[in-house]
Amino acid sequence: MTTPESAPPEWKPAPEQLPRHVAIIMDGNGRWATARGLPRLHGHRAGTDNVREILKASVEFGIQYLTIYAFSTENWTRPADEVNGLFEIMAEVIRDETEDLHRNGVCVRHIGRSEGLPASLADAISAATALTHDNRRITLNVAFNYGGRAELVDAVRRIIRDQIRADDVTEELVSRYLYTGGQPDPDLIIRTAGEMRLSNFLIWQAAYAEYYSTSTYWPDFGRPELREALFAYAGRKRKFGSVLNGTC
Ligand code: IPE
Ligand code: IPE
Ligand code: MG
Repeated sequence: MTTPESAPPEWKPAPEQLPRHVAIIMDGNGRWATARGLPRLHGHRAGTDNVREILKASVEFGIQYLTIYAFSTENWTRPADEVNGLFEIMAEVIRDETEDLHRNGVCVRHIGRSEGLPASLADAISAATALTHDNRRITLNVAFNYGGRAELVDAVRRIIRDQIRADDVTEELVSRYLYTGGQPDPDLIIRTAGEMRLSNFLIWQAAYAEYYSTSTYWPDFGRPELREALFAYAGRKRKFGSVLNGTC
């Protein structure tokens, strides 16, 4: 029997088919705006607003960890107007949403470097992470000023500062020193807007993640599109380098 390409209307993910940790490369805000004859920042506004819907849908599906790639260490190379505009939108949305996130049991974490961020944004992020620290319904990792290579460099620096002996450095220890230390690796990485690359996202943690790429631009990626990604994931056979029983 072949698996249908899109989810039948009655399909719902069974708990064992559901990824515990979903990570999303939220790409295509600029193209979404350009296609409508709007400035790129309108795309960033629409994209930032879309996080609310995807977070809500993730909670409803029962996803436990959601990581969203919002600004990479390479995105600093964009025009200053775009970078500053994006920071303002992010600071405003985080400030406006913090109380609601807290009420809904969301634990907000920042993964990435805080250095270089404007104070208004750094303050909004720290207030949200401090207030929601003990919430357990879902963990929302906001990857902001995040780079996978920077994360590894930061981990190595901390390992050396902690005077860990070379023989004690294991994969488990390195994982613990990453920004995501203590969390499970992503099971599913979704990229919107069609590109087929990681762009420096979770390069260590993604070792055995399943990938899903859709041409839909991030501001248009809603609950039905997330459901399609979960359907595709449910049909994957994860092998982790081993052989599956009963298959050749
Ligand atoms: C993703 O959208 C958001 C960030 C990288 C900050 P883009 O701004 O990269 O959108 P495109 O790729 O230009 O369409
Ligand atoms: C990746 O998107 C970073 C974020 C979504 C924040 P980019 O638009 O920066 O990636 P490239 O430049 O297409 O690789
Ligand atoms: Mg892009």
